[in-house]
Amino acid sequence: MTSSPPGPSVTPLGPSVASQASSVAPQSQGFSLEGRTALVTGARRGIGAAIAAGFAAAGADLILMARDAALEDTLEAIKQSGGREATVITADFADPAAVEAAATEIANSRTIDILVNNAGTIRRAPAASTSPADWHHVIDVNLNSTWAVTRPVGAAMVSRGEGKIITIASLLSFQGGITVPAYTASKHAVAGLTKALANEWGPSGVQVNAIAPGYISTDNTTDLRADPEREAAIRDRIPAGRWGRPEDLVGAAVFLASAASAYVNGHVLAVDGGWLAR
Ligand SMILES: NC(=O)c1ccc[n+]([C@@H]2O[C@H](COP(=O)([O-])OP(=O)(O)OC[C@H]3O[C@@H](n4cnc5c(N)ncnc54)[C@H](OP(=O)(O)O)[C@@H]3O)[C@@H](O)[C@H]2O)c1
Repeated sequence: MTSSPPGPSVTPLGPSVASQASSVAPQSQGFSLEGRTALVTGARRGIGAAIAAGFAAAGADLILMARDAALEDTLEAIKQSGGREATVITADFADPAAVEAAATEIANSRTIDILVNNAGTIRRAPAASTSPADWHHVIDVNLNSTWAVTRPVGAAMVSRGEGKIITIASLLSFQGGITVPAYTASKHAVAGLTKALANEWGPSGVQVNAIAPGYISTDNTTDLRADPEREAAIRDRIPAGRWGRPEDLVGAAVFLASAASAYVNGHVLAVDGGWLAR
């Protein structure tokens, strides 16, 4: 007579499961960006500058795209982070055609492994008094120029069969905001574009994700922080109990740029001190 061994029954992994497991690529690179080249837009200050320095610390070479070449502070931060190579290219994001030309040229001459669409602007005014010029400026910088960079750089990634695209969205990709109608429209569109491209380019090995920063202390939010009531109202609503700093975005950016996020696609990752959970 045979008897089962004592203890819980264990079902051995079948051959199909075992062979699946062994065919999974090892995550040997983890969070390292060693040997990768990242193009970061709007890297002169704020969140873009912090992400560029963070990428350098993780081992990436940088291509910085900005409206003028005066990027001394960012270049110094990259150097201090142990960065190796940093190239600067210029284009004004208020002119999507010029941005597309510059992006096409760099996509044809360099292998870009990671693209961070960070350049962005905001105009604060009630909807009824938002001028057509302000509306078009915000949509051009935040949306049309994001598209103008992403199309040629993404097309080259699709041809190579790999790439990582990270777009900087916003809490206003989820919420309406207060008297920033063009900004909210642009950031909702950026989240939609992220998902559309993830669907289309995912099968070609290109992942497209977004980071939605919460309220971060940069020039983008100077007006909010200058108004004591608004500043306190915002801070009181953040479960973390403080405004974010540009450096708070670096971990999420390195994750989405690295092999560690190999199975993450079409996601909008809030880095907001808990704001959206409220
Ligand atoms: N701070 C926040 O709370 C917050 C929250 C959610 C999302 N975001 C987003 O995060 C991104 C970075 O913003 P930030 O907070 O770091 O603000 P920031 O300090 O004002 O930086 C904006 C960056 O975008 C660049 N830029 C603006 N207009 C441009 C143009 N016409 N052509 C080329 N570059 C241009 C700026 O370049 P110059 O230095 O040359 O002007 C700068 O490097 C933006 O997409 C923003 O919408 C910020």
